[in-house]
Amino acid sequence: SPTPEVHRGLAGVVADTTAISKVDPDSNSLLYRGYPVQDLATTQPFEAVAHLLWHGELPTAAELAELESLERSLRPMDERTRRVIDDLPRDAHPMDVVRTAVSQLGGLDATLLRDGGVLDPELNRGRAVYLLAQLPGIVAYGQRRRHGLDPVPPRDDLDVARNFLWQTFGEVPDDVVVDAFRTSLVLYAEHSFNASTFTARVVASTLSDVYSAVTAAVGALKGPLHGGANEAVMHAFAEIGSADRAEAWLDDALAAKRKVMGFGHRVYRHGDSRVPSMKAALDALVEHYDRPDLAALYDTLEAAFVARKGIYPNLDYPAGPAYHLMGFDTETFTPIFVAARIVGWTAHVAEQQAANSLIRPLSAYTGPERRDVPR
Ligand code: CMC
Repeated sequence: SPTPEVHRGLAGVVADTTAISKVDPDSNSLLYRGYPVQDLATTQPFEAVAHLLWHGELPTAAELAELESLERSLRPMDERTRRVIDDLPRDAHPMDVVRTAVSQLGGLDATLLRDGGVLDPELNRGRAVYLLAQLPGIVAYGQRRRHGLDPVPPRDDLDVARNFLWQTFGEVPDDVVVDAFRTSLVLYAEHSFNASTFTARVVASTLSDVYSAVTAAVGALKGPLHGGANEAVMHAFAEIGSADRAEAWLDDALAAKRKVMGFGHRVYRHGDSRVPSMKAALDALVEHYDRPDLAALYDTLEAAFVARKGIYPNLDYPAGPAYHLMGFDTETFTPIFVAARIVGWTAHVAEQQAANSLIRPLSAYTGPERRDVPR
C-alpha cells in the first residue's frame, strides 16, 4: 500500500481543540482566554493570570484573595523534598533538580491513592495551586545549593513574583526588577500546544496523574529547541563577549550550520508576539543596572541575524539577558520557565482530562519487509 502522508514534527497538524489560549501568527498575537497577553503582562498579577488560565475568567477581588491565601499556605518545602534535592550532586543541572522534585511531590501526594483520586477535578485544581506554590522554592534552592547556600524560607506577605526573588536572593529587589520578573512569568505562562504542553497532554491522555504529566513536560522543556533556549542565549552572549564581536561570531556560527538560540519559531514566522513586552522589560533592567554594553550586544546580534536570515527573536532572546541582569545563574533560566508554565501545563491537563481521548498517532514503517528468522 502507498506510504501515507507523513507530517514530520507534527508540523501544521491540528491535534485537538483548546479554549485556553490562541496563537495567531497572521496577526502576530497571543490571547489567554481572549485577552491579549501583552495587556495582561503589564496590568495583572501573575496569580490573576493563573486564575484566568485555570478557570476561564479573571478573578474577582474575593477569588484572587482566596487563591493568594491558599497558594501562600502551600509554599513551605517538605523536609523530604529538601533531602531528595540534597541527594543530587551539587553541580546537577537545576532542570534535573526540578524534574526530580516534581516527581517526588507526586510520590508524597497520598490523595493520588484514593479511589478516583487521580482524575478528581477538585483535587487536581488543588494540585495545580500546590505545584505553583512549591516550584519557586524548589527553583530558588536549585540555584542556592550550587553556591553552597541553604534554602530561604518563603514569606507569606509577598506575592509569587516577589517571594520567588526573595527565596532566591534573600532580599526583595526594587519594583522595576519585580515588574520585569512578573512580566516574564505572565509571558511564559501559556502557549497552546508547544512541545512540553503537548507532552503533558499525551501523558494525561493515558489517564496518568498530573505530577507524571508535569514531570514529563519538564523533560521536554529542558531541550534547547524549546525552553532550554533562554539558557543557550546567555551562553552565546558569554561566548561573544561584546557587540563588536557579534558579526564575526555569527559568521562562524552560520558557517558551522549552528542554530542561533533565541531566534525562530515553529508557529510565528514574522516575530514572536511576546517579544515586545519582554524587550521593554529588558530595557528597563538595562537602565536600572546601567548595562548599555549588554543592550548593544543584544541589538547588534539581533540586527545581524535578522538581516542575514530573516528570522526574528522569540521570547527566550530577551528573557535570557533579563534573568541574567536580575542575578539568576544561567542554568536557572529554564527552571524559571517551569515555574511559570506550570500554570499552562496544569490548565491543559485539566482540559485533556475533561474530554479525554488517548493520544496515539500512527507511523509509516520504513524498515525491512516481513522476513523469516534464520534457523
Ligand atoms: N538559527 C539558525 N537557523 C535557523 C534558526 C535559528 N535559530 N531557526 C530556524 N532556522 C533555519 C533552519 O536551519 C532552517 O533552514 P533550512 O531550511 O535552510 O534548513 C529553516 O530556518 C527552518 O527552520 P526549522 O528548524 O526547520 O523550523 P522549525 O519550525 O522546525 O523550528 C525552532 C523552530 C524553534 C526549533 C527553530 O527556529 C530553532 O531551532 N530555533 C532555535 C531554538 C530556540 O530559540 N527555541 C525556542 C523556541 S520559542 C520559545 C520556547 O519554546 O522556549
